[in-house]
Amino acid sequence: MAFRIAPSILSADFARLGEEVRAVAAAGADLVHFDVMDNHYVPNLTVGPLVCAALKPVSKLPLDVHLMVRPVDRIIPDFAKAGASIISFHPEASEHVDRTIALIKENGCKAGLVLNPATPVSFLDYTLEKLDLVLLMSVNPGFGGQQFIPSVLPKIAEVRKRIDKLGKDIWLEVDGGIKTDNIADVAKAGADTFVAGSAIFGSRDYAATIKQMREKLSVV
Ligand code: DX5
Ligand code: ZN
Repeated sequence: MAFRIAPSILSADFARLGEEVRAVAAAGADLVHFDVMDNHYVPNLTVGPLVCAALKPVSKLPLDVHLMVRPVDRIIPDFAKAGASIISFHPEASEHVDRTIALIKENGCKAGLVLNPATPVSFLDYTLEKLDLVLLMSVNPGFGGQQFIPSVLPKIAEVRKRIDKLGKDIWLEVDGGIKTDNIADVAKAGADTFVAGSAIFGSRDYAATIKQMREKLSVV
């Protein structure tokens, strides 16, 4: 299985955001995870399409935009124009989930649905075949540096089974509390894409941390 590591810029130094993205690209990251928070759907406020557009030319890495905003539809075309490759959203933040998925695709991006720790997998009924990515939250959204919630592990396995049964190339990404010491367990459960904010940006040597993560993944 191809494993992908997606550093979340939420834990980067925002005063030097461009340099930080360049640094994780040089350190071997596969994606840049871009957390968008609105102080409404989640109790925190981060960055929008202007910052996304500013970071787009900084590296060749695809921008993996995680929208934690409600309502969500209005802002999707703006992120597509700003260079997002993947746009993911929470079903609780959309009035019409199927319409939002279609909107992301019409705007030329890959579509992801994000399930919070207590959001049931049944949200993938009637949607999974239209998705490019499922993002399972292993913390409650809103902040970096939280503890991984282990009850998401059987949920990852369940979603992995559903994806395999469908036989489509749908990425299974996990977000929240991923570190070098639990990334292998997350992979064993069935994830292929790993968001890591504080574990990477909080470390002294990004390349060494990503390398350590890959070493843990290589024995899964
Ligand atoms: C939380 C965000 C995460 C967060 C992960 O709402 O979606 O992407 O940045 O940070 P860590 O890896 O520190 O838990
Ligand atoms: Zn995220």
